[in-house]
Amino acid sequence: MMNVTIVDHPLIQHKLTLMRRKETPTSLFRRLVNEIAMLLGYEVMRDLELTKREIETPLEAMKSPVLAGKKLCFVSILRAGNGLLDGMLTLMPSARVGHVGLYRDPTTLVAVEYYYKVPQDIGERLVIVVDPMLATANSAIAAVDRLKQGGANKLKFVCLLAAPEGVEAFTQAHPDVPIFTAAIDRELNDHGYILPGLGDAGDRIYGTR
Ligand code: PRP
Ligand code: URA
Repeated sequence: MMNVTIVDHPLIQHKLTLMRRKETPTSLFRRLVNEIAMLLGYEVMRDLELTKREIETPLEAMKSPVLAGKKLCFVSILRAGNGLLDGMLTLMPSARVGHVGLYRDPTTLVAVEYYYKVPQDIGERLVIVVDPMLATANSAIAAVDRLKQGGANKLKFVCLLAAPEGVEAFTQAHPDVPIFTAAIDRELNDHGYILPGLGDAGDRIYGTR
């Protein structure tokens, strides 16, 4: 069984279509990633625990639900993950943040690590790993491998677009880590790009190509 949720809310699907269009400029693309991140985050954090707290409204006292204070950590896979990170942090400003720097070797498509920094108590936190693209899944698998070595034991992975090949590979490597994505596209091309996809997410967020 694939541990994957497709978040197919109409607002997400509409915004994703705008992002896919090749004429969408960097400024709009960046804004859309941020908006979709919030909508995805809403779904990913649906099962956060609540507790009741005594408060007073202007009219009377009541016990009202608040987040139970379970610790959370977002981990961004650099650099495109930072596009999703901002939206997530808007929803949960008190969350801790980790970064795993990885780039895909363009020839082998192997993920190469160049940076790693996460909170020391990552083992006590729900870890939500964010990266817009799950293509071969080499990057996501390497990031989660590294986080588990560092003590993380409760993780979720959030992306915008996934390839069937990536979902399969990630699920095989980390069956305990649920995937949340806005869509699963058709396939990968020979260069490991998602088809029809949206191109290179990092380049489109940062305008580097
Ligand atoms: C992109 C993307 C993922 C990775 C996905 O990053 O943001 O991290 O590719 O591909 P995979 O599933 O085949 O590993 P890229 O390596 O282009 O680096 P960037 O974020 O710095 O642009
Ligand atoms: N990384 C991207 O940014 N886009 C793809 O289609 C595949 C990997």
